[in-house]
Amino acid sequence: MAHLLKGLAQPEITESVVPYGKLDATVQELLSAAYVVRQRAYAPYSNFKVGSAFRTKISNQIFTGCNVENAAFTPTACAERTALTKAISEGYQQFSTGAVVAYKPEVFISPCGVCRQFIREFAGNTDIPIYIAQALDERSPEEPFNSDDPVLCTSIFNLLPKSFHTY
Ligand code: THU
Repeated sequence: MAHLLKGLAQPEITESVVPYGKLDATVQELLSAAYVVRQRAYAPYSNFKVGSAFRTKISNQIFTGCNVENAAFTPTACAERTALTKAISEGYQQFSTGAVVAYKPEVFISPCGVCRQFIREFAGNTDIPIYIAQALDERSPEEPFNSDDPVLCTSIFNLLPKSFHTY
């Protein structure tokens, strides 16, 4: 019966917390793009701004997204789904990395369950590293992170283990 478990995606990345300054320049760029787009969040109901960015496997392009709320609440789009929907509608369906930034004191904000499933859809059989950092409003868009800011390095298969997929 153990072979049935093997059919389920296994994390390919070990979670760790790494200072921003130690990350690859491409990851720093992705986190910075997520910081910048977070400032465009439309969040008048929760006042909770989220920014996200995904890098495409082909041509290394960055697609960004913010959360877009609605008076009726349920139509609200999360930042991660905004970013991915933008990329997919432009013809990109494979992603090498993702980033999510938001701010709550003393905690990393991690993607909601719906976004985890949404991201997983585009992982295929390969894990996608996801970088999560705190966005501090007092920072400048040119330098949104300090080199010692902690970044959670995780992945979609860590965030959503034994996930549902049919392909
Ligand atoms: N939100 C995101 O954008 N991404 C997540 O993964 C969690 C939640 C947004 C939705 C809503 O606009 C606000 O954060 C508060 O829940």
